[in-house]
Amino acid sequence: MKIPSRIFSFPRFLKILQSLHLPTRPAGGNVKQVRSKTSDPAAHARHTDAVELFGKFYPCDDHTNVTPKILSKVGKSLQNQRNHPLWLLKERIKDHFYTSYLSRHRNPLFSVYDNLSPVVTTEQNFDSLLIPPDHASRRKGDNFYLNQSHMLRAHTSAHQRDLIRAGLNAFLVFGDVYRRDEIDKSHYPVFHQLEGVRLFTKYELFANVQHGEELHLFEKGYRTSCKQESHTLEAVKLLEFDLKQTLNKVVTHLFGKGLDTRWVECYFPFTHPSFEMEIKFQGEWLEVLGCGIMEQQLVNSAGAQDRVGYAFGLGLERLAMILYGIPDIRLFWSEDERFYRQFQVTHIDQKVTFQPFSKYPPLVNDISFWIPHEGYEENDFYDLVRNIGGDLVEKVALIDRFSHPKTGKMSHCYRITYRHTERTLTQEEVNATHRDIERSSVEKLGVEGRF
Ligand code: DAH
Repeated sequence: MKIPSRIFSFPRFLKILQSLHLPTRPAGGNVKQVRSKTSDPAAHARHTDAVELFGKFYPCDDHTNVTPKILSKVGKSLQNQRNHPLWLLKERIKDHFYTSYLSRHRNPLFSVYDNLSPVVTTEQNFDSLLIPPDHASRRKGDNFYLNQSHMLRAHTSAHQRDLIRAGLNAFLVFGDVYRRDEIDKSHYPVFHQLEGVRLFTKYELFANVQHGEELHLFEKGYRTSCKQESHTLEAVKLLEFDLKQTLNKVVTHLFGKGLDTRWVECYFPFTHPSFEMEIKFQGEWLEVLGCGIMEQQLVNSAGAQDRVGYAFGLGLERLAMILYGIPDIRLFWSEDERFYRQFQVTHIDQKVTFQPFSKYPPLVNDISFWIPHEGYEENDFYDLVRNIGGDLVEKVALIDRFSHPKTGKMSHCYRITYRHTERTLTQEEVNATHRDIERSSVEKLGVEGRF
């Protein structure tokens, strides 16, 4: 995970959690919120003691901030639903890796996992990747925690260490990941990633280099902007070349030649050096993947100290939106047959260009309030809107901040765009939801309404 740009302030998650007056929607029969049987039902009518997921109980504590809405998505595994665009993309990527990368025995080199549980420990999600205990990416404001020790994975990198430890040297993991985020047509709190890892022994890495037998993977050197302390420059440069070539090839396989791409240097705590690939789409540079040379400490901790390697993470929705021309990320969750019928191909390489069905008109309502001096997080408001408005909400944008010159109080104004993907909304329906959002914001976030 990259370092998020917003700064953490202590949010009041339990209050918010208790504010979610929504009934739980059982998804795939896997999730359930468990009500306390022993506590006074009147006093604790909305108190939840534990979250049940895939048959396991996770006792709630001050970290718990999963919402019924989010839990309803767990177990849907869109990447495994036949003919879903994310499944189609997964199949095309698998096909590419299976045919392009073979072991000495002509078996596929990469093992593929697409069904690992999205419930991971915080140790797997962060510590296993050397993310420091006080790192900004652990903020409750950005992640969905079941409790202090367990969470919905924020990235598929959470599995890197364990799969290497299990003895794998090349693997791909497809899976759903969860992040608290703003709301717009390309951000949704659940999305899908592909993780890839490849490790090399000295013999594999230098196999095609003249006098390669004289080269080494490791040295007692120093860390520079382009290499880690223990790596030789030759090893790093070959890895970097192979990594970028591998990813350029996947993208070319998916999109054909002629796509405008660029590499940008960046920072991930578990790779050094690290890079992102951006694709130019409709005049904008969009980040579609992150990657880099794996920190040797991580590789060593997984018991592969005689190898070096690289890892990468691709955002599947971003790629699918560009590839199939899908204009809104919410459509991936649509059960409307006008959506999924378009992906019923007879062959995975068949070209699909999504034909948007008539877009129903949006309804736009603003909401303004004074925010409390402390403890207000924008993401709390976004979650609250998402919980009350569900998929009726297409976008929430902070359109104005105003600081009162005398009182010093800060006011925020958000514009909420309501639009259903499958029907026309009525003004009354939207008004009712909007009033609910106003009421809950006052009650749960402690804001002072300017409605
Ligand atoms: N996990 C990163 C993310 O959440 C993406 C990523 C994956 C970056 C693997 C890397 C990597 O450097 O090696 O965005």
